[in-house]
Amino acid sequence: LRGADEKTPEKYAHIISTLPKKKGWANDQYRYQGFWYSGFLLNAVMSVQDNFKARPSDVLITSSPKSGTTWLKALVFALLNRNLDDPTSNHLMLTSNPHEYIPFLEIQLYAKKQIPNLDVMPSPRLLATHIPYSSLPESARDSGCRIVYISRDIKDVFVSLWHFVNKVRHDMKEEISLEKAFESYCDGVSIYGPIWDHQLEYLKASVVRPQCVMFLRYEEMMEDPLSEVRRLAQFLGRPFSEEEEKGGVVEEIVKVCSFESLKDLQVNKVGELQLEMMKMKNQLFFRRGVVGDSKRWLTPEMIGRLDGLTESMMDTFGSPT
Ligand code: A3P
Repeated sequence: LRGADEKTPEKYAHIISTLPKKKGWANDQYRYQGFWYSGFLLNAVMSVQDNFKARPSDVLITSSPKSGTTWLKALVFALLNRNLDDPTSNHLMLTSNPHEYIPFLEIQLYAKKQIPNLDVMPSPRLLATHIPYSSLPESARDSGCRIVYISRDIKDVFVSLWHFVNKVRHDMKEEISLEKAFESYCDGVSIYGPIWDHQLEYLKASVVRPQCVMFLRYEEMMEDPLSEVRRLAQFLGRPFSEEEEKGGVVEEIVKVCSFESLKDLQVNKVGELQLEMMKMKNQLFFRRGVVGDSKRWLTPEMIGRLDGLTESMMDTFGSPT
């Protein structure tokens, strides 16, 4: 039962009613602690902030949507569940979508009316969130739990997100136009936007607290997955042994988690993810999986504008992407 002074959906509704509001791509978005959310999502974010207590042994996968979260989930799960005899045999990986075995705190667990009891989950708990670093529950920043962030070229994220949102809303009357979506995106008014602040916050945290926060880049993982997966394994406290290296375990994990392998799994071809508000086809999480796809969709002006914004957001830490 909730205590008398705990935040309740009514209190959340009151807070939301006081927030700055703008029309987003499809519905109203509210600015909360510097970032934009739909009302439904924001309720869940506030519930995570009030109720989620991180354990030092937790592993939190974090990202801005469409940055490669699904891929990172598969990799982290494979790395932490491997055994020498058969490093990628875990049947869950072959029969489930990564969002089933590593759920999002706010989109899946705390989006339900009932507050979930995550105390019953055995350690290490593998969880995910798109919540910005500064809005994470205090325990997630202070407990010493491991946080892995994946960032991606902002232009590719935009194009991936635009495709994804239109496919999710396929039964709606009209498609969201690229131009309209682009304008709001540049203004930062998109889900968990502005993405520049999102990436920079995690980048800074990874510099200040490198033992707890790891900042990965999609493009670097695509270019040299073996090295990046080795670094990730090290960060997670499960470096590859000599025996594993010799046995080709790193290569095997990279292969099982590759775009082609995941996309081809039966569960990702025909399965669906049950969310609180809707069912989502697993295949929507696997579109093209390439670097630089935005060039096919954006005009040179659009590319120049996004790159200009990214440059102007640079600070002493350098470019976030
Ligand atoms: P595209 O739309 O550019 O193809 P998220 O997982 O954060 O929702 O991000 C989805 C993006 O990651 C999509 O990008 C998707 O195709 C790509 N993706 C999914 N699985 C991948 C994998 N195993 N390797 C590389 N990219 C992957």
